[in-house]
Amino acid sequence: MFNLKNIAILLALGVLSASAAPASDVSVAVAEAEQPAIVAKSAQEIPVYACQGSRWRGACRKLYVDVDECFNVHPDFNDNISSIKNEDTGRSRCMWFEDANCRGRYYKNQEDANLADGDGYFNDRISSISCYAWRGD
Ligand SMILES: *[C@@H]1O[C@H](CO)[C@@H](O)[C@H](O)[C@H]1NC(C)=O
Repeated sequence: MFNLKNIAILLALGVLSASAAPASDVSVAVAEAEQPAIVAKSAQEIPVYACQGSRWRGACRKLYVDVDECFNVHPDFNDNISSIKNEDTGRSRCMWFEDANCRGRYYKNQEDANLADGDGYFNDRISSISCYAWRGD
């Protein structure tokens, strides 16, 4: 039953006993030791909401886009998105690309309820998505 997590806990306990920390701090230290992996995983996934119809109509899907990795849209949504938004603009920005593998022209409006208005170029044209960490003021 020895796995990496157990070893990490033992190491945390060892460090604490060496520094003679009060027993009450031990559980806190272990909890913190386990936390970063969980936080890092969710922090890297940006929720993007996309619908086949404009104004969030038709089939919709929540896409989880890993930060700094190109996400190719599923075949049934490829070239078939008319409304899209980054649901975590507090810490990220996303780019919507016309071609797979984050190539071709891209568009950066973080929420567009109707891609068909304006010049409409990106309506039913988004094929991949890329998001990066971003913190505004
Ligand atoms: C989008 O997908 C729906 C459902 O499969 C389909 O009815 C529609 O024709 C598609 N639209 C485009 C532009 O591909």
